[in-house]
Amino acid sequence: MPLATCDEEQLEIKLLLEALYHCHGYDFRQYAYASIRRRILLHLKNNQLETISSLQHHIIYSRHAADRLLIDLSINVTEMFRDPLFFQYLRQQILPLLQHTEYLKIWHAGCSSGEEAYSMAIILNELNLLSKSQIYATDFNNKILSKAKQGIIQLKNMRLHIKNYIDAGGTEQFADYYNAKHNYAILSQKLKKKIIFSHHNLVSDAVFSSVDLIICRNVLIYFDKALQQKVFQLFNESLNIGGYLCLGSHETLCFSPLSKQFKTCSETLKIYQKKADKQL
Ligand SMILES: C[S@@+](CC[C@H](N)C(=O)[O-])C[C@H]1O[C@@H](n2cnc3c(N)ncnc32)[C@H](O)[C@@H]1O
Repeated sequence: MPLATCDEEQLEIKLLLEALYHCHGYDFRQYAYASIRRRILLHLKNNQLETISSLQHHIIYSRHAADRLLIDLSINVTEMFRDPLFFQYLRQQILPLLQHTEYLKIWHAGCSSGEEAYSMAIILNELNLLSKSQIYATDFNNKILSKAKQGIIQLKNMRLHIKNYIDAGGTEQFADYYNAKHNYAILSQKLKKKIIFSHHNLVSDAVFSSVDLIICRNVLIYFDKALQQKVFQLFNESLNIGGYLCLGSHETLCFSPLSKQFKTCSETLKIYQKKADKQL
């Protein structure tokens, strides 16, 4: 069989993503092309499929095949206190400004297996803000959400998490936040009970209302520019005036038309604050 040319491959990918959307509602049509292509080719290899068109056939006729593809298309790499300097700034500069808010609502969009949300709960605990906070952590991948809800982390990964915690300015004994059992660390109930993990798709689902802080890190990097704009709009509508938006180190609000509605707190750390209408 002749190899697909670049144009043919693009067409096959476009048709595959249309099939995935129309048959199962999973919408990857506005994801950044290079990374989605890489994931699809890897999925073909792992499933011993020769062509994208043969995968498309499976997707049209099998929900199970679509669910498996969804898992391979979503990249779930994460860690606790990822980018410690970001968490240090959050702890020292941003959260103290929110301490007088009556009830703090925090949204982690694209939370993966939950390490980022558990890190937030730890910082809030150390700032004595945990009891008056509610953390919502959402993702569109149900399998990874089940893992997040369990709050169980492989012990071998804890070394990195502890180092990040210290680099992020942690002040307590990190071991107080989990119980070690066999090869796993079971995160404490005190943290778990303040986090609501739920399904939310940034491409298609509605706004979260009246949020004080949105953390959406290392998610928009996989979206094309138009989809990023749509999600910025969703975040703008979800945030309270004076609320903060935090993005990943390779993401920025600065080229968006919405940037005028935000003050940049740190472009290095990608932290932005929503202005009041009179400040525009
Ligand atoms: C690389 S992880 C980032 C995890 C965490 N925010 C961090 O920075 O460590 C990206 C996450 O975004 C999620 N994601 C991708 N597209 C999404 C969408 N349309 N709606 C909600 N979550 C999405 C993926 O399932 C994945 O868990």
